[in-house]
Amino acid sequence: MVHVLFVCLGNICRSPMAEAVFRHLLAEEGLSERIAVDSAGIGGWHAGEPPHAGTRKVLSEREIAHDTIRARQITPEDFDRYDYIICMDEENLAALQRMAPKGKQVYRLLDFAAHLPERNVEDPYYTGRFNYVYELVEAGCRGLLEHIAREKG
Ligand code: 4NP
Repeated sequence: MVHVLFVCLGNICRSPMAEAVFRHLLAEEGLSERIAVDSAGIGGWHAGEPPHAGTRKVLSEREIAHDTIRARQITPEDFDRYDYIICMDEENLAALQRMAPKGKQVYRLLDFAAHLPERNVEDPYYTGRFNYVYELVEAGCRGLLEHIAREKG
């Protein structure tokens, strides 16, 4: 089993969106038994909460399941448990690199969408641009799945 963890600041907008989109892709590709996915926040302010209404709306409009997702804060054990830790922006990356054990690689989601000019998934908690963020998240998730398929066969 390959384990993937998406991380953002609050775990209510971007990373739960990526979790839901990636899980949806896995189901489409028949890979749900081979790749497990979760998400977490750098901060724990929203622990236990469902995703933000804006994230729920873009997922519902596309019939992407998200009902069981609840926010949690990342823990030190996550760096051992997860093969791929995938964050959203350079701020998340810096925070995770401070927490990560030596040698543990942390990625940004748009590392896997090299055809896009953006490197950071902006925070729709502040910008309100949930549809735009969805497009970035979907492109990143597709690229990530191709990357894992190449690495893990
Ligand atoms: P997210 O957005 O990192 O995409 O979940 C945020 C959600 C909440 C907060 C910040 C960012 N907050 O400060 O509460």
